Amino acid sequence: MLNSPLLKNDFRRGLYSRCFLPPLSMMKTPQTVSQRYSIPSIAMHWAMVLLFVAVYVLINVAEGFEKGSAERQMARDWHFTFGLLIFALVWLRIALRALGTTPPIQPAPSALMEKLARAGHLALYALMVVLPVVGWLVLSARGKPIPFFGLELPALIAPDKALGRQLKEIHELGGNLGYFLIGGHAVAALLHHYVMKDNTLRRMGFARQS
Ligand code: HEM
Repeated sequence: MLNSPLLKNDFRRGLYSRCFLPPLSMMKTPQTVSQRYSIPSIAMHWAMVLLFVAVYVLINVAEGFEKGSAERQMARDWHFTFGLLIFALVWLRIALRALGTTPPIQPAPSALMEKLARAGHLALYALMVVLPVVGWLVLSARGKPIPFFGLELPALIAPDKALGRQLKEIHELGGNLGYFLIGGHAVAALLHHYVMKDNTLRRMGFARQS
């Protein structure tokens, strides 16, 4: 039977695929392409969310305590510490983003929405890099200690009260802008999930997607 040239070819092809190709179950089909970010990226994203909540809550709590009180100073010190932790971790976040793959949004959003999302993400990264540095500069210009989990970081500039006041205004402006950026980011994620019903938010979830 194998003498027919056609059957001979079929037999060879079957033998080739059995010997050299991985089993079908191991081959990457469109369904097996990852639909969410890597676990380290997801963990880093939610850790940053918690840190932002802490940073904002602490500075507002500090305002509620009497000037010069130990409680006020403690809340402020933790604001500084967690803010600096955001600065330390954002580089890891950027590296993970640059090295990893971005899972596609399904169904795909319009080009305009993609552009808006990109601009929003860029602004959030700028916030995580620039705002802590400006805060660090404020404390340096005031000649105040810069606490970081029991350590004291070096001042970035020489004491200069007038410059300190200007930097504080810039830091406050950026911090207040942050409310809108972070709020807008969260609202956009919820709109994607509940109104457009796409996988934007699920890409950042720990649950495995079917
Ligand atoms: C991404 C991280 C940070 C965010 C989102 C943030 C946000 C804020 C906000 C919203 C305020 C209050 C502004 C107002 O009263 O209108 C503030 C105040 C302040 N922050 Fe930050 N901050 C961050 C990191 C830091 C860091 C790392 C430092 C210092 C190492 C710092 C130092 C300060 C100082 C000195 C003030 C003024 C407090 C005062 O003396 O009245 N911040 N920040």
